Amino acid sequence: TPVKNLQGLHFTITAGPTREAIDPVRYISNHSSGKMGYALAAAAAKAGARVTLISGPVQLPTPAGVDRIDVLSAEQMLQAALAAAVTADIFIGCAAVADYRVAEIATDKLKKGSENELQLKLVKNPDIIATVAALQQQRPFTVGFAAETRNVLDYARQKLLNKRLDMICANDVSGSQIGFNSEQNAVSVIWRGGELDLPVQAKQQLAEQLIALISQHYQA
Ligand code: PMT
Repeated sequence: TPVKNLQGLHFTITAGPTREAIDPVRYISNHSSGKMGYALAAAAAKAGARVTLISGPVQLPTPAGVDRIDVLSAEQMLQAALAAAVTADIFIGCAAVADYRVAEIATDKLKKGSENELQLKLVKNPDIIATVAALQQQRPFTVGFAAETRNVLDYARQKLLNKRLDMICANDVSGSQIGFNSEQNAVSVIWRGGELDLPVQAKQQLAEQLIALISQHYQA
C-alpha cells in the first residue's frame, strides 16, 4: 500500500445536528443531514489520517476507517468533543449545534392545555468549538463552519475571531442547492491572512479539497 500523505495525523470532526429534548417525545433540532461532516471524515480517512467522527442523529453509514461516536444533545457533543480533541491534531466543527436548549426538560409528555400559547424557556448551550479552541494544553488546529443566510463573509470573519479559530468555512445556507441537506456545497475558506473560494460541487469533492487545504495550513 502506498504511504498516504495524512498518515500519523488525528482528525476529530463533528457532524450533523444536535437534538435538544423538550419532553420524552419532542425536541428542537435543525436540518443538518450530516453529509458535509461525513464527507470530511471520509476524505481524511482516505488520505490516511486517523479520524474520530462525533455525530449527531443522522441517517448515514459510517465512512470506511472512521471511528464514530454518536451523541444527541450539544452537552453530549461537547463531552465527546473534548475527550477526542486533546489527542487530535486537527479539529473540524461541521455540526449544526443548537445554540439553545430547553431550560427544564419535562419528565412527562407535555399535555395540550386550554391556553392558546405555550412558552418554552431556553438557555444557551456551551460553544463546543470555542471551548476546544480555548484549550490551554493540547489545543488542536481548529477549523469551524459558519452557516449564514446573510452577510455571510462578515459574520464568518467575526466567528473566526470571536471563537479564536484557525480557519472558518463560510457557508451560505440561504438557498436549497447548497448547505443543509443538499448533495452539493460551496464555501469560502477564511483564515488570518487569506481567503479561498471553493465553488459549488459534490460534498465529497469539496471535502477532499478542504482536507487538503486544512492540512496545508496545519503543516505550514
Ligand atoms: O449536514 P449537512 O446537511 O451536510 O449540512 C452542512 C452544514 C450546512 C450543516 C455545514 O456545512 C455547516 O455549515 N455547519 C455549521 C452549522 C452551524 O451551526 O454553524 P454556526 O454558524 O451556527 O456555528 C459556527 C461554528 O460554531 C460551527 O463550527 C459550529 O459547529 C460551532 N458551534 C456552534 C454552536 C455551538 N453551541 N457550538 C459550536 O461548536
